[in-house]
Amino acid sequence: MKKLIFVLLISFCCAAGVYAKTVFVYFSATGTTENMAKNAASVMDADIFKIQPVQEYTAADRNWHDKNSRTSIECNDPKSRPAIANKIDISEYDTVVLCYPIWWGYAARIMYTYVERQDWRGKKLITLCTSGSSGLGQSGTDLAKHAKGAEYLGGKDFTRKGGDEVKKYIEGLLK
Ligand SMILES: Cc1cc2nc3c(=O)[nH]c(=O)nc-3n(C[C@H](O)[C@H](O)[C@H](O)COP(=O)(O)O)c2cc1C
Repeated sequence: MKKLIFVLLISFCCAAGVYAKTVFVYFSATGTTENMAKNAASVMDADIFKIQPVQEYTAADRNWHDKNSRTSIECNDPKSRPAIANKIDISEYDTVVLCYPIWWGYAARIMYTYVERQDWRGKKLITLCTSGSSGLGQSGTDLAKHAKGAEYLGGKDFTRKGGDEVKKYIEGLLK
C-alpha cells in the first residue's frame, strides 16, 4: 500500500510539473521574439510571461539610424534600465529561459532591468535571442553576469526557428 501511495505521489508530482519547472520570460518590441518564445513554451508545455515596458517602443523609438532615438540612447548607455510595468515571479521555477531581441549586439536594456530585480540563487539560466543577422554574440554571457547566483547553461539565436528546435536545445542543456 505504501509503495502504491509513493508511486501515485511521484506520478502526481510529475504530472503537475513539480519537478524541474521551466519558465520562459521574454521581451519583444515587434513580435519576432514573442513568436519564438510562445511556440517554444507551447511545445514544452512551460509557463511564459512577457516583460511589459512602462513605455512601449514606437517605430521612432526603434530607429537605429537615428542616434538620438530612444533605443540608441539606451543602447549607448550601459547603465540604462528602462522601467518595467509588471511583476514576474520566478521563485517557483528551477530553469528560467530569457528571450529577447538583439539591439546593438546585446540584449535590449530592459532585460537588464528585469534580471537585476530577481533572486537567481539556485536557478539555471538559458538565454535565447532573435536578431537581424548578428546572432547571440556576447549577449547571453553579459546578461548572465547580472543574474547574480544563477548557473548559466548557455544560449542561442532562434530567429525564425520552430519550437521543436528550441525544446531539443534546452533539453540538451538540462541533461
Ligand atoms: C534598436 C534596434 C537595434 C538592433 N540591433 C541589432 C543588431 O545589433 N544586430 C542584429 O542582428 N539585429 C539587430 N536588430 C534587429 C532585431 O534584433 C530583430 O529584428 C529582432 O528579431 C526583433 O525582435 P522583436 O520583434 O521581438 O522585437 C535591432 C533592432 C532594433 C529595433
